[in-house]
Amino acid sequence: MSYPYQITSLEQYHIDYKKSVDDPESFWGDVAGNFLWKKKWDSVLNWNFTEPKIEWFKGGKLNITENCIDRHLATMADKPAFIWEPNNPEERVRTVTYARLHKRVCQFAQVLKNNGVKKGDRVCIYMGMVPELAYAVLGCARIGAVHSVIFGGFSAQSIADRLDDAGAEFIVTCDGAYRGEKVIPLKNVIDDALIGNKTIKKVIVYTRTRTPVSMIKGRDVWWEDEMEYAEGQIEKDGVVSFPAEEMNAEDPLFILYTSGSTGKPKGVVHTVAGYMIWTAYTFVNVFQYKPGQVHFCTADIGWITGHSYIVYGPLAAGATSLIFEGIPTWPDAGRFWDVVDKHQVNILYTAPTAIRSLMGFGLDPLKGKDLSSLKILGTVGEPINEEAWHWYNEHIGKKKCPIVDTWWQTETAGVLISNLAGITPAKASWATLPMPGVQPILVDENGNEVTEKDEHGLLKGNLCIKAPWPGILRTTYGDHERCRTNYFASYPNLYFTGDGALKNEEGFYRITGRVDDVLNVSGHRIGTAEVENAINMHAGVVESAVVGYPHDIKGQGIYAFVIYNGHHGDENMRRKDILQTVTRVIGAIAKPDKIQFVTGLPKTRSGKIMRRILRKIAEGETENLGDISTLLEPGVVEEIKNGKV
Ligand code: WT7
Repeated sequence: MSYPYQITSLEQYHIDYKKSVDDPESFWGDVAGNFLWKKKWDSVLNWNFTEPKIEWFKGGKLNITENCIDRHLATMADKPAFIWEPNNPEERVRTVTYARLHKRVCQFAQVLKNNGVKKGDRVCIYMGMVPELAYAVLGCARIGAVHSVIFGGFSAQSIADRLDDAGAEFIVTCDGAYRGEKVIPLKNVIDDALIGNKTIKKVIVYTRTRTPVSMIKGRDVWWEDEMEYAEGQIEKDGVVSFPAEEMNAEDPLFILYTSGSTGKPKGVVHTVAGYMIWTAYTFVNVFQYKPGQVHFCTADIGWITGHSYIVYGPLAAGATSLIFEGIPTWPDAGRFWDVVDKHQVNILYTAPTAIRSLMGFGLDPLKGKDLSSLKILGTVGEPINEEAWHWYNEHIGKKKCPIVDTWWQTETAGVLISNLAGITPAKASWATLPMPGVQPILVDENGNEVTEKDEHGLLKGNLCIKAPWPGILRTTYGDHERCRTNYFASYPNLYFTGDGALKNEEGFYRITGRVDDVLNVSGHRIGTAEVENAINMHAGVVESAVVGYPHDIKGQGIYAFVIYNGHHGDENMRRKDILQTVTRVIGAIAKPDKIQFVTGLPKTRSGKIMRRILRKIAEGETENLGDISTLLEPGVVEEIKNGKV
């Protein structure tokens, strides 16, 4: 069985691609016709990239949770929507059927209502990977509240900044979260984030780890108590109901913060209809999902990958999605393969950094693991090197599973460039062809389309997209001008991705990495300016410059050059203090891998740090540093080279 909007052959891909470009309105109108609308749209697409203004399915009314849940109840009430694999393999697995998911989401929507949450209010969610995180997200969507999930690795300070930027009044959290043998005290972090906060009205706390928490009277309530009370309100004579708010197609669904080239993360806003259609369409086509299959996306729901390919995309397609609470290396490095075996996973979607790290454990962890259920493999988050691609293909897919290399971003909601599993050709370390509706273009610094091929017959340039697809971001929360300058001002009438790419004669794209000051560390996006700001907050630090360097497992490591003027402790002590500061300000994910103390930084006469030189030094290049004649003090380069750590 296939979905009406599923591409089932290479010929059909080409036909659909052409149609999506020639007549996007009728193409996407047809796709949208497969979803549940409370009122049909008046127009499929209005747009310009100058403001930018992008509206899909204007006039249409719907609720995404009816599409993700209610719509499936007639035929799939007893089918699993989620399978939850706990951190500890000894603990009981939970299977959440569509009927159960419906009940829990209705119940939690009622809890939100009882606690004063209204349509349009912002709700921050800071939880571990438990099914309740999905209920919280979907409960918000049910009543039209805007969720903003914050990854559990972010610090109190980062949370406070995001709460403030989003004007959030409500938080849903856990007492703690399990990560391998560690317990992360999430509610404590929230408490730190709330010191001095005057806008948060309610904090709903789900009990997961029995970590002691402080519950503040009038503000903090227990998830379990609230759910129990709500149960009596939503269930009458065994029938569960909670009205799904009628949302405009272009109402915001969620905010998700992501790093850019400035010091402050931006709140990417996605809207209801376009996001739903893009995640469902790409899920079904990229992974060639067949009803009944078990889809395992290893990302955290705190990132866009989890939003789109654990929760919304799979549910919109009536799929079974596996939520894994743990980490790939606990109790041992065979955990992913145990999960695949135990749950007979059909589709495995993970990050190259995870593959590289597991490769490092050799083949022993694979012994005795039945991986024969696997049909399709996927990667996301960073370029995959050929070695990792081949290992994944041989040892996990046993050369029988197509690998999809999916390129996309928080801003794009779902996959933009990828092969379609088993339908369009794959090529190791190439993302290959654009999805229908996606029109990539490679431009030079001046915005002119690149037409000169290099010696390998490849075009090379900055990757832009010419026209909107349904999942494109609509704005950055509270600051539309920032959205314009970040994405739409570099090149007129183009969306600029921030990535560089190559294009071959077959029209395949290979993503080469960011061309802006954004790092990709283990698939996590971190701005160099953000890390510098954090380092600079440390007493004794005068100035710092942060660059990325190639790292065998993480893809990129963080290298910090620091001018230090304090007299406290020795170099190693200072390093530890700086790491502690970064952990406090951003979170452990942003800790530099290397810190080099320097007496000066290479600057131009106008005071601009020449990162190009620092990047080369961090990469281990000492000879060809390029032109350094414009430097204010060329001498510092020699000193930095000699002190490399
Ligand atoms: C950046 C977006 C996409 C969800 C996870 C990350 C890099 C992503 C690939 C890929 C090469 C990739 C890009 C992009 N990236 N996928 N298949 N090949 N690079 O989302 O945090 O918004 O980061 O990740 O540089 O711009 P994100």
